[in-house]
Parts: sequence; C-alpha cells; structure tokens
Amino acid sequence: MINARQIQKKFLEFFKEKEHTIIESKSVIPENDPTVLFTTAGMHPLVPFLLGHPHPGGKRLANVQKCLRTDDIEEVGDGCHHTFFFMLGNWSLGDYFKKEAIEMSWEFLTSERWLGLPKERIAVTCFAGDEDAPRDEESARIWRALGIPNERIFFNGKKDNWWGPAGQSGPCGPDTEMFYYTGRKEAECDQDGCGPGCHCGLWVEIWNDVFMEYNKNKDGRFEALMQKNVDTGMGLERITAVMQGVASDYETEMFAPIMKWIRDNSSNCNEKSARIIADHLRAAVFVLADDRGVVPSNVEHGYILRRLIRRAIRHGRQCGMPTHFCTDIAKIIIDIYEDEWPELKRNKTFALTELEKEEARFAETLERGLKEFERVFALCKGEMISGGDAFLLFQSYGFPLEITEELARERGKGVDRDGFEAELKKHQELSRRGTAQRFASGLADHSEKTVALHTATHLLQAALRKVLGEHVQQKGSNITPERLRFDFIHGEKMTPEQIKQVEDMVNGWINEGIPVERKEESIEEARAEGALAFFNAKYGEVVSVYTIPGASKEVCTGPHVKNTKELGRFKIVKEEAVSAGVRRIKAVLEK
Ligand code: ALA
Repeated sequence: MINARQIQKKFLEFFKEKEHTIIESKSVIPENDPTVLFTTAGMHPLVPFLLGHPHPGGKRLANVQKCLRTDDIEEVGDGCHHTFFFMLGNWSLGDYFKKEAIEMSWEFLTSERWLGLPKERIAVTCFAGDEDAPRDEESARIWRALGIPNERIFFNGKKDNWWGPAGQSGPCGPDTEMFYYTGRKEAECDQDGCGPGCHCGLWVEIWNDVFMEYNKNKDGRFEALMQKNVDTGMGLERITAVMQGVASDYETEMFAPIMKWIRDNSSNCNEKSARIIADHLRAAVFVLADDRGVVPSNVEHGYILRRLIRRAIRHGRQCGMPTHFCTDIAKIIIDIYEDEWPELKRNKTFALTELEKEEARFAETLERGLKEFERVFALCKGEMISGGDAFLLFQSYGFPLEITEELARERGKGVDRDGFEAELKKHQELSRRGTAQRFASGLADHSEKTVALHTATHLLQAALRKVLGEHVQQKGSNITPERLRFDFIHGEKMTPEQIKQVEDMVNGWINEGIPVERKEESIEEARAEGALAFFNAKYGEVVSVYTIPGASKEVCTGPHVKNTKELGRFKIVKEEAVSAGVRRIKAVLEK
C-alpha cells in the first residue's frame, strides 16, 4: 500500500519531470508577512513572486509546505479536516495557465504511472461568475475535453470557488476543485443532492487549482495582475487516505500510532475527541519545534498555540486520559515525522519542555475552572454566558475564550464574545499603561552610558542567537545608565559555559572596533536583508536599520554609539527566568 512519503515523492518527481523547480517548505510561522500569524497555504511565502518579482527558481515551482489554519478548527474531528497539514503544491508564475494546470492535475491523479485513481470517481467544481469575474467556462471545457461528463462538473460562487486572502488585499482568483467519491461507510448520506460540497464525507476535496490573475486592492476592487499565475494545493493527509482506501485521514500512518496510544490510554474514548487531540497536538509540536521559537502565551501565535494545547487537554479529560499525556503523544508524533522534518529533532527538547510546562500550568487550574464554569452556567439565566464570566475563566483559570464557547455550546448556550473582547481590552489598556510608565521607550535617557548599553544590547542579542540558536528573540528591553536588562525567548537556564561564550563573543566584537552603520529603508527591504525586527511593522513603513557588520543587523530607532570600541568590557551579571519560555539577562559595561 502506498504511503504518504511515497505520494509526496511521486508528486515532486512528477512536477520535476514537468520542469518545475522543487523549493523547500518555509517555516509555518511566516518570515516576511506580518499580516498573518501562520502560513495557511503554500502560496503564502510566494506572494511577492505572484505579484511579479522574479523567483530564483524560475517560473515553475513545486513543494510540500507545512500549513496551519484555524478557520477549520470546528470541523476537526471529522475524517478530513485539520488545523496543521502538509500541502503539496505547484505554481506557475506567469508561465502556464488553465489548460496545462488542469491537464497536469488530471494526469497526476489518474495516470497509472502516478496515482492511478479511477476517473469515474472524480468530480470537479468551477467558478460560477459574479460582478468581479466571469463564469469559468474555460476550465469546464478543459475538464470536458479530458472526459469528465457535465453531470460531474458543478459551478459555485466565491464562497466555494475563489481563493484569496480573506478580507485583505493580495493576489487571488477563481479556482477549480477536484473531489473524490470515497464511498465511506461512516459517511453514508441521505441528503438530497449529495455531491461535492456536501459535508458528509462521501465526497472529499482532494486538490484545488487556483488561477491567480487578479489582485484585490486596498479598496476591495479586483484588478488584473501583471502576470497570470497558477497556485495549487493538495492536502497530503487526504490524498493518502484516499489512496489507501481507509475511512479517515486518522487511519493512515500519519496518525494511526497516535490514535492507538490515545485509545489504549483512555477509559472513555470517543472518536471525535481522540481526533481533536491527535490533530491539535501534532499542530502544537510542529509550531513548538519551528526554528522561529514560539511559546504558549496570551497573544498572537502564542495564543493559538495555547488554545490548541489546552483544547487537546480538555478533550483528553473527556476521554478519561491520564492527567499528563501531552509529551507522551508528542514523542510519538516526533517519531513519525522527524526523519523528514529535522527541526523536530533539532528542537525536540525545547518542544517537549514547553509542552510539559504548558500542560502543568493548565492542569493547575483546569479542574477548578471546570467547576467555575459549572457554577457560572448554573447561574446563567439567558442564552449567553456573559463576557465578564468568560473573561474571569480566561484570566483566572486559563480558559481560552474558545474553550468556554465550546463548553457552553455543548450545553446549548453561547458566550457574549463582544462582552469578552470589551473586558479584555479594558484589562490590556490598564496593563499597557502600566508597562508604558515603567519602560518609557526602553531607554531611560540618552546619556552616553545608556546609549553604549543600548548598542551592547544589539551585540548581546546577536551573540545569544549564535550561541543558543535562532529561536532567541527579544521580548523586552530596559536600559538605565547603570545596566541593561534584556528579555528573550529561550526555554532553559543558560549554562555558565554559554554565558561565558556570549560574553566573549560580545567582547570580541567590541575589541574589533567595528563602526556602527545606520540606514533607512522599507520594512520589507530590511527583512529581506535579514535585519531582525520582532514587532509588527506596517507594510511599506520606513524604518531605520542599525548594522554592526559581521555581528548584528536590527531594525531600531536608536540612538547608538559610532564604533563598538566605545563600549568598554561587557559582563553578564544575572541570568534568570521571567515567565514561561522567557529569560532575562542583566549586564553591565565595565571601564
Ligand atoms: N492556495 C490554494 C489553497 O490553499 C491552493 O487551497
């Protein structure tokens, strides 16, 4: 029986034969795109090239991309939806268009040399047309010419047959999707008009060819792009399940060992919860093991990660699993995937440690939180749990809003989301004011000593990233004339050897007497040159970049010294934990 790895290999071989350059998977945390938290599709890292910048690999590309989407999180638990998944994709950057793209998809799916799927089980959908773009008769004609009869060609509107960045500007266009009739027993469906698009699972979407010929501009209008592109995506989990003829993605080797462990270690296992646990922990492991080093928190990437882990833990409780199970499952996940995804090997300790800590943190409040939820629920007279109660569960018991919503939904109630957001905002406003007062711009003043320590902070961050790894990121900084204080992402206490190495490296750069350079450029240019910028700058914003050649390059407002020789001797006086996954260094410059 063919497995996922073989399918992936075939896919890349096929597109190589068709003169595509195979490119590597990018990080699941986007490097140059502050508009999204995670890479949700293979096209994400390619946006500049879809807009017309030449790609070093040429005009035909293909790869396997790690993706994470939370839009489908409510559907996880069925046989074929995931938060994290691997997307097989091929691209034409202004090269071939509809005819070749569709013919290649068809050949790969149905030719005996490749996947050899039975043609009569495949149906397709095309874009029905609207005021922005015409009905896609061209794709339908191409499908007909390949032998798909009219009754297996369906037309839908933007909701189903259009791909583009939701609600944002960027490249987009109509798509044509391929569905496979699984005949799955668990999906038996008696809906009138069951077919592609019915969510019963009898028909599974396996591949999507997007014809990116438009750019949605900032006013929401669709303009023709300077080049017509193709962007395709096929979920590896789904196509593997289809090829193996199994009842769900969870029965393929990509999940089976995880599911077995869950079943073996539950007293009251239900399939849906088991799938949620397997899916969410797989996502969490890949995010934690990413070189960009995200840890669970209450904001942005960290919040999504926390939500995934905590939701898995709550479902673990429902299945009667042991109190701590996340790292046992994570080890199985790492075993399955580490050969192909070496970051899992590289960052294994970090991922397991952070997962364990997050589970311990949630375990402390989970039981009490569930009791509190029951109390709140019993007192709730209306249809909705109040925003204030949801906020209390979030703040005091660590329940992400979505967990409270899920608990409420299971008992037929909702949660006042707006009320929750209002409470959260009030709270953030208060704590921001506190922070702002404490750290006014990070620098206490612009005295010579403070400025020297500021430059030392850049050298320190550069040295930490060299000694500890690229997951190190600044989380906060506070500088007075006496000392610098630098908070950064790192999961463990630094060893005395590491501290020494960092000090030596910084002092080495100081002794070299390197001139500090400053220039202004757009945030995109700065990032493209590899400047560190750990904040959300707006697209097109002009920033200043400080470079200490051979050592550091950071987006920063300054001020800095002119030459590193002005600094004196650098010494770390303290290294300690501030919060989960965040360390703090205090350091001084001696004469
Ligand atoms: N970008 C397209 C998708 O994700 C291929 O479906």
